Amino acid sequence: MKTQDYIEIENKYGAHNYHPLDVVISEAKGIWVTDVDGKKYLDCLAAYSAVNQGHCHPKIMEVFVAQASKVTLTSRAFRNNKLPMLYKKLNEMTGYEMSLPMNSGAEAVETAIKTARRWGYDVKGIPENKAEIIVASGNFHGRTTTIVGFSDDPMSNKGFGPYCTEAFPMHEYGNLEDLKSKITPNTAAVLVEPIQGEGGIVIPPDGYLKGIEKICKENNILFICDEIQSGLGRAGKLFAHYYEGVRPDIVIIGKALSGGYYPVSAILADSKILGVIKPGEHGSTFGGNPLGAAVAVRSLEVIEEEKLVERSAELGEYFVQKLRAIQSPHIVMVRGRGLWIGFVLDRKARPYCEKLKEEGILCKETHENIIRFAPPLVITKDEIDWAVEKIEKVVKSLD
Ligand SMILES: Cc1ncc(COP(=O)(O)O)c(C=O)c1O
Repeated sequence: MKTQDYIEIENKYGAHNYHPLDVVISEAKGIWVTDVDGKKYLDCLAAYSAVNQGHCHPKIMEVFVAQASKVTLTSRAFRNNKLPMLYKKLNEMTGYEMSLPMNSGAEAVETAIKTARRWGYDVKGIPENKAEIIVASGNFHGRTTTIVGFSDDPMSNKGFGPYCTEAFPMHEYGNLEDLKSKITPNTAAVLVEPIQGEGGIVIPPDGYLKGIEKICKENNILFICDEIQSGLGRAGKLFAHYYEGVRPDIVIIGKALSGGYYPVSAILADSKILGVIKPGEHGSTFGGNPLGAAVAVRSLEVIEEEKLVERSAELGEYFVQKLRAIQSPHIVMVRGRGLWIGFVLDRKARPYCEKLKEEGILCKETHENIIRFAPPLVITKDEIDWAVEKIEKVVKSLD
């Protein structure tokens, strides 16, 4: 079967909840993917940063295959010999005393919300059912009904209500005065992305995260950082909040935590916070399963062994400089941290993505006019040079 055959089947039998580029991938390795017609592409999206380690990383695959033949799922009704190792690895790597594993990113965000609310009631003394969590404009934290209920993007939330908006007051991202104005005695937490990914690689003003930390400390409020996309090296540090030297009370991770092999997410916090969740109060059949846990440990080791954080910082800088050198009246700006780059145009980005695909580069627009360049962190300088040449060609052809 050819590309068009697969697309026809997909369009006929699958829900149309995405608008993918018409490329049907059947194989992938490192930064490259191959479609069913045998054409190779450089993947500049890296599965929304889930494959920071590169596609089908051999070291992770080894563990994945070995573990798949031993035990994959026990549920948390019983213990397994891989989950403790994940807890320990996360503690050693991040300094947080504890973690709570889930599967998708949205589930981990839900876990952080539940933990913060429970902390608000049990520790802070907020009256039952009154806890508020302040969120930011332009946020993206996933697709569950609670989460889309505090999004300001109509594409996410229109037609899926009702929502409990009073439980999630919104402040303007980057505006500390506005944040302060939203605080009440019932505020349990502030939830932000340190850099907004789906929002278009939006970097907040310097001092914003430090300001949130200070405001939270002064008001006995938890500071929650969603590092699901920005974390684990993508932004050129292990966590994007390291740029401001802050230590959030809860950090949410996912995506690259399992190198694209298996959905694994988690929240990280110290025991005085995560300890509020008691047996039976939260969980998931697959969360903390031995296959996911083994894969996650190896995925984290690969980040360290291959110095992917350092690579992201160095090569990201190189990529940004090269993109900034492209001359076009339609490029508004190139911004980013690490290998996480927003290429902002003054017009629709989709035609650029379509043309880039023809040239052998896969990337996706975010919002109407921004292209996100976020290749696996194993990309080399030569491969970046190759990509920039193609990007320049496409930009010029559409000028
Ligand atoms: C910052 C952030 N939070 C949460 C999510 C949701 O993760 P998932 O799609 O795994 O549920 C995403 C996904 O893109 C994200 O970028």
